[in-house]
Amino acid sequence: MKKIKGLECLGCGREYSQGEVKYNCPSCSENLDIVYDYEEIKKTFNKKNLSQSEDYSIWRYEPLLPIENLSKIPPLQIGWTPLYEAKKLGKNLFLKDDGKNPSASFKDRASAVAIVRAQELGAKIVTGASTGNAGSSMACLAASLGIPAIIFIPQKAPKAKITQLLIFGAKVIMVKGTYDEAFDLCLEATREYGWYNRNTGYNPYTREGKKTAAYEICEQLDWIPPDKVFVPVGDGNIISGIWKGFKDFKEIGFINKLPQLVAVQSELSNAVVKAVKTSIQHPGSRIQIEPVKATTIADSISVNMPRDGLAAVKAIQESKGLAVEVSDKEILEAIKIVARATGIFGEPAGVTSYAGYKKLREEGKIDEKERIVCLITGNGLKDIDSSMKIAGEPFLVEPSLEGLKKIQNEIFK
Ligand SMILES: Cc1ncc(COP(=O)(O)O)c(C=O)c1O
Ligand SMILES: [Zn+2]
Repeated sequence: MKKIKGLECLGCGREYSQGEVKYNCPSCSENLDIVYDYEEIKKTFNKKNLSQSEDYSIWRYEPLLPIENLSKIPPLQIGWTPLYEAKKLGKNLFLKDDGKNPSASFKDRASAVAIVRAQELGAKIVTGASTGNAGSSMACLAASLGIPAIIFIPQKAPKAKITQLLIFGAKVIMVKGTYDEAFDLCLEATREYGWYNRNTGYNPYTREGKKTAAYEICEQLDWIPPDKVFVPVGDGNIISGIWKGFKDFKEIGFINKLPQLVAVQSELSNAVVKAVKTSIQHPGSRIQIEPVKATTIADSISVNMPRDGLAAVKAIQESKGLAVEVSDKEILEAIKIVARATGIFGEPAGVTSYAGYKKLREEGKIDEKERIVCLITGNGLKDIDSSMKIAGEPFLVEPSLEGLKKIQNEIFK
């Protein structure tokens, strides 16, 4: 592809042509990054023709996506999700509601690009391992295109996500183990059977889909990028994608400054936060990601070993950003606070960004003048068991006005 120079390894720096590699670095196994020819892209892609585009989806950014053309895209609305100002929650605070995507999470952005690539390579079956969202997203988009999907999930995945997978017709392999074990088994199966693998932090195309949220934020904020973007982090692929998106737009001259990225993790799944802390203690040292034993209630970011951890830490460092950890209690509280103040219902991982913002604000680490975006990455209906822990109870009454009157004091309280 003319717009792509090749792929570069984030670990050893080795360079490959696009046709030469499919997944991670054959030499050191680290993740690859797709390198664009910005000079070439700039020849035809400019703000004027973008502003004239009537395609309100991720595909409006086709010149910056690693696909041949739009002939193989899923026939669903992906991306261009709303960015709401959340005045009740903070000054200059915006929430990007990615639960609005077809399978109700941010992951559709990544699956969309990966499934186009799968078709370009002639794949007959797509696969992926997932805490739930990436898989249900792949199953959803595969269904829309009539492509068989085989998805690996940990046994503990929330019911709604398993239901999505089954309803979309994917073959669901439920692994008696963790997400990390499901991930490794999926890789082995890919090698054995030759399926096309979408795994986060293994397939370099997922980051490319995820970066489109940064493009949208720039357009939605009239080309003045925010000062900080809060991102829920599990494998670290969303945050590395967001960083790539802002950098792409700066490279082609669409924006002239970059935001600070704030990674937010649960303290019960905090490998990236720990790696950032270590790198601050030992400046200039090689980035080391040590696995943790993740137990957070926020299943989508419950990850022992972040598969795109290196790129995530680099994104935080390069953006002069921060990494924050919050408790599961703060995450659950955030679901309620966001829902009641804005009408957006996020899943636990989805609102972790806001929980991180709230924490930093309370610690006095946010200037009121700063413009902030929190990514809300998944819809709350995906994990109702967690939300019900803090939602409260309904009033159970007899079907009569008398019955209602018995509890009226409670209602008017
Ligand atoms: C709702 C939601 N938020 C955040 C994340 C974290 O993304 P990443 O694993 O790329 O860090 C995920 C990943 O599954 C997710 O589903
Ligand atoms: Zn390498």
